[in-house]
Amino acid sequence: MLELILPAAVACAESFADVSESTLLPEELEALGGARHEGRRREFTTVRHCARRALAEIGVPPVAVLPGERGAPVWPRGVVGSMTHSAGYRAAAVARSTDVRAVGIDAEPHEPLPPRVRGAVTLPEERERLADLGAGCPQVHWDRLLFCAKEAVYKAWFPMTGRRLGFADASVAFDPAAGTFRAEIAERAGTAPAGERTGSGEPPAPLLYEGRWAATPGLLLAAVVVPPGPAVRNRPDRAIRPPS
Ligand SMILES: CC(C)(COP(=O)(O)OP(=O)(O)OC[C@H]1O[C@@H](n2cnc3c(N)ncnc32)[C@H](O)[C@@H]1OP(=O)(O)O)[C@@H](O)C(=O)NCCC(=O)NCCS
Repeated sequence: MLELILPAAVACAESFADVSESTLLPEELEALGGARHEGRRREFTTVRHCARRALAEIGVPPVAVLPGERGAPVWPRGVVGSMTHSAGYRAAAVARSTDVRAVGIDAEPHEPLPPRVRGAVTLPEERERLADLGAGCPQVHWDRLLFCAKEAVYKAWFPMTGRRLGFADASVAFDPAAGTFRAEIAERAGTAPAGERTGSGEPPAPLLYEGRWAATPGLLLAAVVVPPGPAVRNRPDRAIRPPS
């Protein structure tokens, strides 16, 4: 399902059933440590199994995928990627950094967001758009899909910037017919020029993200892929207002 919303340069693997903890590499087992929650142990294990399957597709031999800064996965040099887990679903997506600058994926159960969460993760302009989407296509829980899209954006954003991103710092708009979305990040989010952070001379992270989404009766998926090359910084005519 995930491959339908990713370009060919991104390899992915997904799983609807968990694998044995014996598939973890020793460093991963150590990173998992004494995590007591059985669900956490299972998702951690299976998503790494997916990651190794996806890495194999781009020719990378089995390697431990450890949690790094603020939980972001640490990929082998020259590789970018993202992982997600939701009830009964785990997935990983990876690409060569020469083909793709960043990727973010997220999966969510296809259920409405609790009203308080909805208020906390949406901007007024997004709530207006959600009302229109709901009227035109009521079978999709657009509020949960919007949350899913924002999480996918964050997973692409964070490895490039090392900065947190508030839910009010991104404005997401869907194209229901095309199965796409666009996320605009507010200037105030303050994208540190990535090169400053990494010393790599990379340009600043983009402020515009293009994504794709998919929905089944039980699952929502969103994926964002940032192409290599100069970033689209912003639309000068546009300022995202914070929630009042
Ligand atoms: C980090 C976060 C995005 C994870 O999303 P989630 O829906 O809770 O969980 P998922 O199962 O989909 O994804 C978990 C995986 O995300 C990855 N991840 C965690 N932190 C990450 C980070 N800072 N950057 C990139 N990827 C990260 C990890 O691979 C993790 O799996 P692992 O712990 O087994 O390694 C979420 O917990 C979070 O902090 N959200 C707040 C920030 C945000 O989304 N802002 C939106 C701004 S528009």
